[in-house]
Formats: sequence, structure tokens, C-alpha cells
Amino acid sequence: METIIVKKSGALNGHLKVNGSKNSILPILAASLLTKDKCILHEIPKLEDVNVMCNLLSKLGAKINRLDDNSLEIHAENITNYEAPYDLISKMRASFLVMGSLLSRVNKARVSMPGGCAIGTRPIDLHLKGFKNLNININSNRGYIQAETEGITGNHVYLDFPSVGATENLMMAACRAKGKTVIENCAEEPEIVDLANFINSMGAKIEGAGTKTITVTGVEELHGTEYTIIPDRIEAGTYMVAAVLTGGELHIDNVIPAHVQPVIAKLREVGAEIIENDSSVVVRSKGIINSTDIKTLPYPGFPTDMQAQFMLLLSLANGTSIINETIFENRFMHANEFLRMGANIKIEGNTAVVNGLNGLTGAKVRATDLRAGAALVLAGLVAEGETEISEVHHIKRGYADIVEKLQTVGADISYSMQ
Ligand code: EPU
Repeated sequence: METIIVKKSGALNGHLKVNGSKNSILPILAASLLTKDKCILHEIPKLEDVNVMCNLLSKLGAKINRLDDNSLEIHAENITNYEAPYDLISKMRASFLVMGSLLSRVNKARVSMPGGCAIGTRPIDLHLKGFKNLNININSNRGYIQAETEGITGNHVYLDFPSVGATENLMMAACRAKGKTVIENCAEEPEIVDLANFINSMGAKIEGAGTKTITVTGVEELHGTEYTIIPDRIEAGTYMVAAVLTGGELHIDNVIPAHVQPVIAKLREVGAEIIENDSSVVVRSKGIINSTDIKTLPYPGFPTDMQAQFMLLLSLANGTSIINETIFENRFMHANEFLRMGANIKIEGNTAVVNGLNGLTGAKVRATDLRAGAALVLAGLVAEGETEISEVHHIKRGYADIVEKLQTVGADISYSMQ
């Protein structure tokens, strides 16, 4: 079993570079099925989730070549299979995103239902309701969604909640539809804008990405393209928290400061100094951590993917903080692991009351999901003694070279095999 061992490390100082965004590359890989031509993608992060999506695309008939360390070429000249099987979907929910592009390309798709996951039940009702509005017939049978259409037709779609995945699937389904699709109350995340820019670079007509209403005017064909993925705002945010937590100063490169505004605002509230440059941020601790309250919300609100890291930070703040998780119903599992390290956190429903303490102690803990795992790595940096984190595979889904990166800025951290 592989674990990560972290020892109390003192202040982290130096430079770190953020990778391309996980939550951009996954839908963009799915969207590369939309054309028969080659697509070349740059700033591909080395992540387990990227490997899973590439495996799925290969199963559907795409040819994938790694051009160099950071770039991939995807060529979906022929779609030879339209089924996304359970073993791949159950590994990674985002595999469900091939549904929109398969429907657009071959008018049918058979995709396993993703089911629940550690952070909540995560239904797909909004994706399916949207597809039905676009003249797509949906049936579910033995754990699979079978979707078929005689031709996708543009329509109005209103999302009851601004779901990231539903917005992405619908943009992909609509881009070669007959007529115009208007997606209202859609997600506004930077990854939605990145996907729209990618598909537009293939010749699509998507307008309004990054606002509450997206309009997609269907075009006949899409062509190949070359595209660079945006930086990962959650990886950036995680290292920003690491600087404040450890009382250090990190210069974090390959960041779009506009994408991390909620994190910057909260870090300033807790007492850190942040300098925003064009494509980097400097995060400098002033030696204090003030308490603050946090409510997770769809973008541009505070990201649920940064909630675990902030719960940790606020566990060491002066005073009491309230965290309200409104996106996922079961995203407090990391609290139990922090409790094992001595934190004082009380959970009631979707609210956590975090009483700040002077310190934590190292313990054996478990990465219950990706962001929880990253937060536990950070916890180990400040806890007395040694912290051993198991279920490292969760962390590798979303943080490329986290151990190596933290070592370069002064962390005492390593992998261990037992
Ligand atoms: N929801 C529904 N019905 C649907 C779709 C979503 O009820 O049809 C609910 C979900 O159950 C959840 C909420 O709406 O409670 C938000 O779900 P959303 O669809 O917005 O999230 P997602 O597309 O499944 C993406 C990211 C997540 C991130 C969320 C929210 C990817 C691959 N995943 O998930 O990232 O937390 O948006 O920002 O883009 C992570 O990176 O650690 C991660 C979990």
C-alpha cells in the first residue's frame, strides 16, 4: 500500500508552478470526439483522471498520441463504439461527459449511470432533462442510460441548478444541432468558458459562456484544432493555503488571478498578504490566521473544491469559524480525519463549526476524496510529529507531483510503500 508521510516542516518558501486544469481537460478531452480531425492539446496535467478519460476515448475509437510531456494528440476519425462501460464510469464520474459528444457525433450513446460517490449522491437528472429538450430519447436499463436521436434539435433549456457537468454535456450535444439552443441558469465556472473556447476553436458558435445564459447556434461540422488548457485554479488555491498555513511565502506561477478571487478574498480576511500579477500570485503569511465564515456556492462564489483546505486553515485560526457547504451533501468527511489530528470541529447537517486551536498532532489518516486528501497533506506540514496518509490514489487523481512540488519549497514529505 502506498502512503504519503509528512513531517512538521516549518514555513514553505519559494516558487511553484500550477498545472493545466483537471476540470477543464476532462470535458475538453470528451469534446475532442466532436470532430473527425486531429486535436492537439497542451498543458495536459499528469493525472490519473486524465488516463481514465484517455482510456475511455480509445475504447470509443479515438487514437491518442502523447506528443511530449505536456501535449496530447487526439484523433477520433471513426467512432467505433458508443458505449461507456461501468468499469470506467465508476472510476470517474466525469466519464459521463462523453454522452453529449457521442450524441452529437453518432446520434446515440449508451453510458453507465455514474451512481453515488464519496461526496454525495450526485444525480444526473439535469443532464437528462436537458437532453430530452434537445429531441433526444432517453431510456434507462440495467444501470445504463441509452440515448438516441434522429437529429439533435436546438431548444430552450432551463437548469434548476447551475450544474457544471450538465452545462458541459449540453454545450457538446448542442454545438452541431439543428437550430439554436439557449441554456439558462447555466454554470459560469472558468472551466465552462475554457470548454466553450475549445469548441469554438473547432468552428462552433457558442456565446455567453461565463454568464448565466449560453446560446449555442448549431453548425454542420467541426474541424481540428490546437488548444492550451487554462491553469488549475484549485491546485493554485491549495498551494496558496499552504503558504498561509505554514507561515511562509510562495510565488505561485501559472495562475489566472481572476479565477481565484474568492480564495484571495478569504485569505486576505484571515490576514494574509496577496500580490496579484498577470499570471502569478505571491502569497505571504503575516504570521496570523484570523477566523472567518465560508459558504460554498457555484462560481463566482467560494468553491466547494477549496472547502476542505480552508477547514484545515480555520482549525488553526484565532476564534471560531462557520463553514456552510451548499453544493454537495456529504463533503465533510475530512472533518473526521482532522479530529484524529486533534482539531475541534462540530458538524451539524451542512454546517461545520470550527473552533481554532494552537496546533494539531500527526496521526494516521485516510484521504476520503481528492480535496480531503490534499488538505490532509497540508495538515501534515503543520502537525507535530508525523502524519501518514493512506488512499493516496485519490490525491493522484487531481494533483500532479504534489510530493515533489512541496519538497522543492521546503516540505518534509515523501511517498512510502508498505
Ligand atoms: N446535481 C444534480 N443533478 C444533476 C447534476 C448535478 O442534482 O444532474 C447536483 C450534484 O449532485 C451536486 C451539485 O448539483 O450536488 C453540483 O454538481 P455539478 O454538476 O455542478 O458538479 P459536477 O459537474 O459533477 C464539477 C467538478 C467537481 C466540482 C463541481 C462543483 C468536474 C470533473 N468536476 O462536478 O470537482 O466540485 O463541479 O464545482 O468538473 C473536484 O475536482 O474535486 C470535484 C469534485
